[in-house]
Amino acid sequence: MIIGVPKEIKNNENRVAVTPAGVTEFRKHGHVVYVQAEAGKSSGFSDEQYAEAGATILPTIEEVYAIAEMIIKVKEPIASEYELIKENQLLFTYFHFASSEPLTHAMIERKAVCLAYETVEKTDRSLPLLVPMSEVAGRMAIQEGAKYLEKPMGGFGILLGGVAGVKPANVLVLGGGIVGTQAAKMAAGLGANVTIVDISLPRLRYLEDIMPANVDTVMSNEYNIRELIKSTNLIIGGVLIPGAKAPSLITRDMLKLMKPGTVMVDVAIDQGGCFETSKATTHEDPIYEVDGVVHYCVANMPGAVPYTSTLALTNATLPYALHLADNGWKNACATNEELRKGLNVVNGKVVFKGVSDAWNLPYTDVKEVFQ
Ligand SMILES: NC(=O)c1ccc[n+]([C@@H]2O[C@H](COP(=O)([O-])OP(=O)(O)OC[C@H]3O[C@@H](n4cnc5c(N)ncnc54)[C@H](O)[C@@H]3O)[C@@H](O)[C@H]2O)c1
Repeated sequence: MIIGVPKEIKNNENRVAVTPAGVTEFRKHGHVVYVQAEAGKSSGFSDEQYAEAGATILPTIEEVYAIAEMIIKVKEPIASEYELIKENQLLFTYFHFASSEPLTHAMIERKAVCLAYETVEKTDRSLPLLVPMSEVAGRMAIQEGAKYLEKPMGGFGILLGGVAGVKPANVLVLGGGIVGTQAAKMAAGLGANVTIVDISLPRLRYLEDIMPANVDTVMSNEYNIRELIKSTNLIIGGVLIPGAKAPSLITRDMLKLMKPGTVMVDVAIDQGGCFETSKATTHEDPIYEVDGVVHYCVANMPGAVPYTSTLALTNATLPYALHLADNGWKNACATNEELRKGLNVVNGKVVFKGVSDAWNLPYTDVKEVFQ
């Protein structure tokens, strides 16, 4: 198969979808790889390294899209890429369709085959291509939260761990999945008082068992969240309903209950956010304030630590990408349920229920696209 790896052009996105090690694997399987010039530069991989691994370097993004049967990316295509996408071209990347109506319509119009990293699902219902980035974002959420809690950054002016004789900060983590667990571990490690809320009692039981003593678990409901936010300094939003928009667990009226200078990091912003007042921001301009509460809502947090993120992501994506290249998308998805669940939009049809529900679009059963 002919594989194309474009350079990411979303604001401050420094990751790349295939490393030179990945190129070597594709070549071993008999595939041809075209990499856009400087695609890996920000992740620490030079064009020479890609060429040595067997890739052909193309100067422009247009050439990469024009030649490739499968485009492997990191973030969803942005508007300037839409017209480069060809009918039947396989796009293997993060899409997060439920948070962007224009992207959904554009991909329907281009008649591409859109296989979304975020909905590839294992039989135990885990999301193997979200996990590595959630691990990065969860850990990073505490670093960012701690930074914006500093007074000169707009925050309350509290040190997460406190010092001898001074209480530590209170951190509330909404959602005890991958993001929430990693965030809670980092905050607890820094000495904060941490509370994790989740709607899953088995998950809360598990977290209660494995977390250190400065982490409490509480059932997620509006009453409990309203009580907790009164004394919280940092809130991390890490809830997920797979393939659907995140629920607004913190509504605008709740901001009045919080201390001025409270910081809210909405990691779930890529699924629409779990605070009513969230709107996506960028690494260049990451925060804004509503009613005295600092909001950090960067939709591609791992993009700021590209070295760690690229290696973590490609460790997880490469086996799936190889399977797609070896078998073609139809055979690969027909025989592999994990990959089949990644299909969202195929040749103009929406085949993922969460996406059709989000934008009121007709739904086509995925089985129909194999006929
Ligand atoms: N902004 C970024 O750069 C970035 C990076 C990685 C992941 N994310 C996003 O972070 C979010 C979380 O990802 P994850 O991998 O941790 O998901 P996950 O599935 O591992 O965890 C989600 C958790 O939310 C819980 N949940 C669902 N509804 C809830 C509710 N009403 N109250 C409390 N908990 C609830 C679930 O029970 C689950 O434990 C996703 O939207 C993901 O796309 C964003």
